[in-house]
Amino acid sequence: LPADIFPDRTNSAGIDLSDPLVREPLMGRLEKLASVSWHAEPTFPSEMEAEIAPITKPQDLTSEVGTRRDSLQEEVEEAIGRAEAIQPGWNAMGGEKRALLLEAAADAFEAHTDEFLSLCQREAGKTLVDAVLELREAVDFLRYYAAEARHLCAEPFLLPGPTGEENRLSLAGRGVFATISPWNFPLAIFIGPAAAALAAGNAVVAKPAEQTPLIAALAVKLCHEAGIPEKVLQLLPGAGDVGEFITSDPRLAGVAFTGSTDTARAINRSLAAREGPIATFIAETGGQNAMIVDSSALPEQVTRDVVASAFQSAGQRCSALRMLYLQDDIYDETLAMIQGAFEALEIGDPVQLKVDVGPVIDPDAKAALERHIARRKKAGRRVWRRKLPKGTGAGCFVAPTIIELDSILDLKRENFGPVLHVARFGGDQLGQIIDDINATGFGLTLGLHSRIEETRRFVEARARVGNFYVNRNQIGAVVESQPFGGEGLSGTGPKAGGPHYVARFATERVVCIDT
Ligand code: NAD
Ligand code: ALA
Repeated sequence: LPADIFPDRTNSAGIDLSDPLVREPLMGRLEKLASVSWHAEPTFPSEMEAEIAPITKPQDLTSEVGTRRDSLQEEVEEAIGRAEAIQPGWNAMGGEKRALLLEAAADAFEAHTDEFLSLCQREAGKTLVDAVLELREAVDFLRYYAAEARHLCAEPFLLPGPTGEENRLSLAGRGVFATISPWNFPLAIFIGPAAAALAAGNAVVAKPAEQTPLIAALAVKLCHEAGIPEKVLQLLPGAGDVGEFITSDPRLAGVAFTGSTDTARAINRSLAAREGPIATFIAETGGQNAMIVDSSALPEQVTRDVVASAFQSAGQRCSALRMLYLQDDIYDETLAMIQGAFEALEIGDPVQLKVDVGPVIDPDAKAALERHIARRKKAGRRVWRRKLPKGTGAGCFVAPTIIELDSILDLKRENFGPVLHVARFGGDQLGQIIDDINATGFGLTLGLHSRIEETRRFVEARARVGNFYVNRNQIGAVVESQPFGGEGLSGTGPKAGGPHYVARFATERVVCIDT
């Protein structure tokens, strides 16, 4: 494994929201942007007539943020044709030039911080804290993958060989990559996979989630202004049907998908059914994430980390905590402390700085969560729910909820929102709990709060998860320091923001010269 291969590279500093001299002017600027209306359409729209649909705020479905014009099947086909024609030239430019363009895009993103923060709040219902983290991660992906382009796609690597032969290994773009992304990281996970594919020398057709095309449209526009050719990175807004047009095209060399496990399976089937080259498929999918807290843990720290892991971003992170296991002898007192912090959560419109928990993304997401909670109540489970504050009726708000269960195996699906499940365990059941977590088939994040080194080693060795967090929260992986991604039902790997990611988008070529 390469160790610290970019010792001089640093991640974005973000914005210090605790400093009133920074925060107050920013809030003023965001207020001015609140009335701007945005639009998303394909990079090369045809003359054909197409429907224009409104995009409304998750926190107020009566309020519009802009409009979306979805891609038509013919536009998808033409976009892939254009990408296929330009990709060899983009690949031939080499890693250094591509890196400079990705870095210019990162600078442009930072220069448009206010617009991105405003869109994250209004189109995706994010709190300002989450919006700032989202922009930072997007910028970090661009710069980190730029560094990878320089490292991997500049001069060929010389390999050892018999005397008299020169052996060279080089990486090249595979061709046209499609990126299909979710709404919950509408900027970072939209641009991250696209940046990696571009870094490796591919042309990209990028389909954002139907709920959040406006943020994606701004990101693509800025990439073009930074010098990435329009035909090299094309936006194809639309819903699942547009995704299907894309993934059934035989000219695609690969797909980088982030979203639900069910959609990943559908794409896998679509790729397998088509003619053409065997496509590379990178899928980052859902989780059923647990945290285990034993009696050696520090209760205040546990409370802080549980509440952040379960309720920050309204629980709409693939990494979020869904199932908390508390050891028997600390169960009641720890749950009481968590409930105290849970009662203090501010719920409401995320444009207000004081709000901790905003809306879920849309009415379907709200309905699915409410069904899950109602079923547990009907089954006689103990359920604690917050009351929604006045003024939230027009939005997709789900009152934060805690539900008592026996085991993670009681959960059949990912519940993507502010719902935490909690169960008790005896000291001799640790092995069984890990086996149950493994038996869900998901393997994304796992948290452990314990001061016992032996316990940490035991859990680390037995659990099949991609990201294991000890004595901290289990969300917010940092680019390069904490490469992120799961295994099993949670994804194929490689990890986003890690040293193997960009290489997966490339093909390897070896030249052997007998001198
Ligand atoms: P989703 O699967 O509904 O949609 C994701 C994307 O796939 C969207 O762009 C959607 O339009 C598209 N799509 C839907 N059907 C398609 C089809 N048949 N063919 C091609 N494309 C299709 O997921 P979502 O609701 O947008 O996002 C939430 C999910 O994403 C959660 O399951 C979450 O755990 C997961 N997620 C995973 C990670 C990770 O890194 N592992 C990160 C963020 C989100
Ligand atoms: N990378 C995101 C997190 O770690 C999903 O929360």
